[in-house]
Amino acid sequence: MSKRQKAPATYEMKLAQLQELREATGRTKREAERKQHDRGRLSARERIEKLLDPGSFQELDTFTRHRTHDFEMQRKRPWGDAVVTGHGTVDGRRVCVFSQDFSVFGGSLGEVMSEKICKVMDLAAKIGCPIVGIDDSGGARIQEGVVSLGGYGEVFMRNVNCSGVIPQISLVMGPCAGGAVYSPAITDFVFMVKGSSHMFITGPEVIRTVTGEDVAFEELGGADTHGSRSGVAQFACEDEEACLQDARYLLSFLPSNNLEPTPRALPTDDPQRMEAELDEIVPANPNKPYDVRLPVRMIVDDGEFYEVHEDFATNIVCGFARLDGHAVGIVANQPASKAGALDIDASVKGARFVRTCDAFNVPLVVFCDVPGFLPGVAQEWDGIIRHGAKLLYAFAEATVPKITIVTRKAYGGAYVVMASKHIGADLNLAWPTAEVAVMGPEGAVNIIYRRDIAGSPTPEERRERLMDDYRARFANPYSAAERGYVDDVIVPHETRPKLIAALATLQTKRVERPKRKHGNIPL
Ligand code: HXC
Repeated sequence: MSKRQKAPATYEMKLAQLQELREATGRTKREAERKQHDRGRLSARERIEKLLDPGSFQELDTFTRHRTHDFEMQRKRPWGDAVVTGHGTVDGRRVCVFSQDFSVFGGSLGEVMSEKICKVMDLAAKIGCPIVGIDDSGGARIQEGVVSLGGYGEVFMRNVNCSGVIPQISLVMGPCAGGAVYSPAITDFVFMVKGSSHMFITGPEVIRTVTGEDVAFEELGGADTHGSRSGVAQFACEDEEACLQDARYLLSFLPSNNLEPTPRALPTDDPQRMEAELDEIVPANPNKPYDVRLPVRMIVDDGEFYEVHEDFATNIVCGFARLDGHAVGIVANQPASKAGALDIDASVKGARFVRTCDAFNVPLVVFCDVPGFLPGVAQEWDGIIRHGAKLLYAFAEATVPKITIVTRKAYGGAYVVMASKHIGADLNLAWPTAEVAVMGPEGAVNIIYRRDIAGSPTPEERRERLMDDYRARFANPYSAAERGYVDDVIVPHETRPKLIAALATLQTKRVERPKRKHGNIPL
């Protein structure tokens, strides 16, 4: 209402005023929709409506408007500014949401937009429900100067304060550039849409000027790049619709906050189901790869396994599944990629996933088939020591139920790291094909019998005999089982019922850690 208008005198007039304002906000909404459709995109509200249960969205702050006068901004003050905020439900559970509106000042963030986002984040933190942020923005609103930067800082602070308290999910559905990327970066999960979302600190133009490198938007910071190369995005989706549906699916595995258990789905798979095929899955030749996702799918409910970071660091597989309806986080070495060796990216990917599961009470099920850490100068120089330590730290620190199944190799330091008994796993099972040892037979024999082999008249035969001897003594699960480092050796087809029984036992697990400000994970 402008200053020159008379204040409404009667209740009827007040109602009419509200009606008028509602019509004005409605026009703003329709205009936003039209502009987004012209770009071939869903509007900010349509995205929210597709994310939430039908009809559940309760919008907040529709009457907010920016207060800027610089650059003649007072002439254009759209209702709601450049973000839609509110809450609704996903599968009947409360979720708070904000959705940046590119049709208004390019979705750029100024004072009022920041206030709206912070307000809905504060609400999510207060009531203990997930916050989903939909990013589609040209970044800091240039006309508002330093106020926009302050606004981002306020959002970042809340991202940090909410970390590990409520699930935070970012759906990047358009540009997300400069320092603005650090809000999604702090959240637990980042989704991107192929061909339409971009994330980068400095864009192609700046890069060309500074380093002379020539790179296009998609290659620099598109969904495929961040989903496979940088690891910034856990999910790269085909289109906006898929992205919104996938976010709903992800939420089904997570509790509303860190104090609640994960939601249980109605189990539709027999907890006693035993897959005979599992007994054939590990090849007799220890150097032959297999896809670890096959046994995982055979074991979990209905073969449903939702992979996180599917195309990044493929030598470790992480994702969510259910066992008898309860959510679990799966971490598995992948023999079909780099023989399942742990390298820098795999360690970082695994560590992040383990910590996310631990923060949100999702028990961990670990499949171990690891020949060790990946050798190489590049790995050493890039810091495999400190990055590998992250995975070790994360597994050791996690207090959720931890169950490990050694399917084949569990060698050296990587054996200890992959949720071994020594770093607090609750139940360690091994298949008869397991080899728990300091290293594989070839490496071991070459080191401890080097002189013996060199002095033999038939060195190859001697090596083979020594390797056979080593295999018999160490390349099995029994020397570890003898010491209780594995709790049981089971036939592979027994894995599902054993896991379900163990998870039921561990449901009441409680661990107290010594009081401290926070641990100092090697970042
Ligand atoms: C104000 C902006 C804006 C911004 C875009 N717009 N970005 N207004 N502040 N940051 C406006 C445009 O003026 C235009 O208004 C409308 O949004 C649509 O923009 P277009 O350029 O026409 O769209 P498109 O061609 O699709 O390009 C999108 C874009 C481009 C790639 C995002 O707009 C762009 O490069 N914007 C600037 C990005 C940027 O450098 N931002 C600052 C980053 S630094 P009209 O009225 O014409 O429709 C940063 C620091 C954050 O964000 C720090 C946090 C600590």
